[in-house]
Amino acid sequence: MQLPVYVLRNGALVLPAQASISVFTPAIYGAYGVYESMQVVNGVVFAQAQHLQRLARSAEILGLRLPGDQALFSRWIADVVTANAVVDATLRLFVVGEDAGGEASVFIWPQPPQVFPQRYYTEGVAVITFLGERYLPQAKSLNALVTFLARRQAEVQAAHEALLHHAGCLTEGSNSNLFAVVDGVVYTPPAAQVLAGVTRDLLIAWAGRHGLQIHEAPLALADLPRWEECFITSTSRHIMPVTTVDGRPVGDGRVGPVTQRLAAIFEAEFRACIAAGQRK
Ligand SMILES: Cc1ncc(COP(=O)(O)O)c(C=O)c1O
Repeated sequence: MQLPVYVLRNGALVLPAQASISVFTPAIYGAYGVYESMQVVNGVVFAQAQHLQRLARSAEILGLRLPGDQALFSRWIADVVTANAVVDATLRLFVVGEDAGGEASVFIWPQPPQVFPQRYYTEGVAVITFLGERYLPQAKSLNALVTFLARRQAEVQAAHEALLHHAGCLTEGSNSNLFAVVDGVVYTPPAAQVLAGVTRDLLIAWAGRHGLQIHEAPLALADLPRWEECFITSTSRHIMPVTTVDGRPVGDGRVGPVTQRLAAIFEAEFRACIAAGQRK
């Protein structure tokens, strides 16, 4: 991992070597913590408010008291972006919880941005299915063993991502949200069953504004052969087409028109947000 110059720890800029936690923290034995990954483009943090709202929601679900409000976290983000002279990056924000009464520790630092080959977008990617579910799926918590194992299995099978399923339904990717087009209608699993991805929620809102409805409904594994198109979304990927699942083509095995249209809508709105952020 390429280390940043500075990590921000509870408001103070420290060197990476000082960004450490005790082995006795409940994050070690209970995965007690929450985190966010944000995309920074031209020094603008995309959808920062949405990420901080989700952080607060994740913390609430775990009963973890954050050591500051959204305004304070925004100041800390600005400090770490400036101190590292960040242009394009993935900004990582971890809140490591403490035992009852103890103050949580917040670490924020930039990493090199994750960039995927262009052919992933033009040809689509291969994914696998993986039996498992995340604990407290609406929280972005440090309890990530199931998604770690799912991703490792995907790597073994030379697939880009693993889609979790349980009780006969596909829910989400190991670090992405899932969408399928069936009979021309776009579906994504209900927010109650998955992490409400910032990309997912923005796509639903922006598509709606362009007259394209995305419906929340369970996606049965048994319906996979009926899927005409499939794509996954996440902060680093945006809209990534999926053209094979478990080695079988989705629809005709090519990136479909609905996925292309949604990706075009997302990219246009994304660019507008970054441009607006730069004018501030
Ligand atoms: C389980 C899970 N679902 C969905 C997502 C996508 O969320 P976002 O669009 O906010 O990056 C992530 C991101 O890491 C994730 O871990």
